[in-house]
Amino acid sequence: MTSIQEGQTPAAKTGEALDAALATVRANISAFDGSYPDDTTSGGVYLPRPAKGQFPAGANRGWTTSFWPGMLWLGWELTEDEQFRGAATANIASFAERAEKEIDLDTHDLGFLYTLACVAPWRLVSDERGRSAALLAADHLMTRFLEPAGIVQAWGGLDDVTQSGRTIIDSLMNMPLLYWASEQTGEDRYASAARRHTAQLRDHIIRPGGTTFHTFYWDPVTGEPLRGSTQQGYTDDSCWARGQAWGIYGFALNYRYTKDESFLDAARTCADYFLDHLPADGVAYWDLDFTDGDEQPRDSSAAAIAVCGLIELATWLPDGEARAHYRERAAWIRDALTADYSTAGHPESNALLLHGVYDWPSSVGVDEGTLWGDYFYLEALARAVLPDWTLYW
Ligand code: GLY
Repeated sequence: MTSIQEGQTPAAKTGEALDAALATVRANISAFDGSYPDDTTSGGVYLPRPAKGQFPAGANRGWTTSFWPGMLWLGWELTEDEQFRGAATANIASFAERAEKEIDLDTHDLGFLYTLACVAPWRLVSDERGRSAALLAADHLMTRFLEPAGIVQAWGGLDDVTQSGRTIIDSLMNMPLLYWASEQTGEDRYASAARRHTAQLRDHIIRPGGTTFHTFYWDPVTGEPLRGSTQQGYTDDSCWARGQAWGIYGFALNYRYTKDESFLDAARTCADYFLDHLPADGVAYWDLDFTDGDEQPRDSSAAAIAVCGLIELATWLPDGEARAHYRERAAWIRDALTADYSTAGHPESNALLLHGVYDWPSSVGVDEGTLWGDYFYLEALARAVLPDWTLYW
């Protein structure tokens, strides 16, 4: 565990931002009362995850539930307050049961889910149940690896012909679970799948000019790359802001575990386009095709992910102008979020960040707080005050 050392004083505004964010996370422990909140706020407030099919309200389903324990583990590292650790630990049983009983596992998002809910407690407090559950999740993720395309299928069951051979840029963030599984087991097959998957995205999901597709299809039988398309972006050939941010952080994390320079170059390509297409205040519109003057919402969650990604990218660059540039742009965006998008001074909301967009084309979670935006904002603040912070990813 990394905690703030004596004499390591964060910039006052970052310290205040952190205090405000942690006060909200602390209040949410009792507000959520052991239930999982919905993916996004409704009118600025998180409600319990709605009941769906066999799942009662507040159940552990979907791809975003782990951002809550992720915030709690960060809270514990930042404060050493046992209330955070207790609330974070309480989630492990639910994630273990989900993996053991194979509940709602037909997704590539097992990386998001199990890295924050189960790898984090293994890294921080050597929690064995967390480790076993994360290894089960990694095994399940491997069942989605499609030969000969060399990609992990993103969505749907493996028999779902509409999703067969399709992956999405977000998937890059799910690869650290596979590198971790290789470290833990000594078996290279997990890491090898992650390397192949990332190389396919490097070659096909990034377009000439540095924009990215949200999703891309391969022929599941021959492995031939077919076509890009969007799901949550404005059009098939626009550049969905959160996808570009996943690209920055995801390729940089894949570099961390492989030291494949082409992955670091891919992260830079995503970063340069993202930074060149920001509005004046530094917080991206939900699709990078929009800018100042467009009557469109921002996506604060894309901004928060990009901050973490830019810091990760800078970590791996040699000391020099480029590294300083990405660090400076990360701090600029983070400070913009704190100043104008955080809920400090907005007690009516229990999110950390306002003005996120989940899925504009489907009108879901538009101009709301988002669980992942909150997590990455807190990670961005933690990275600012704990420069030696050990990643959960
Ligand atoms: N990973 C899903 C999203 O970013 O909306």
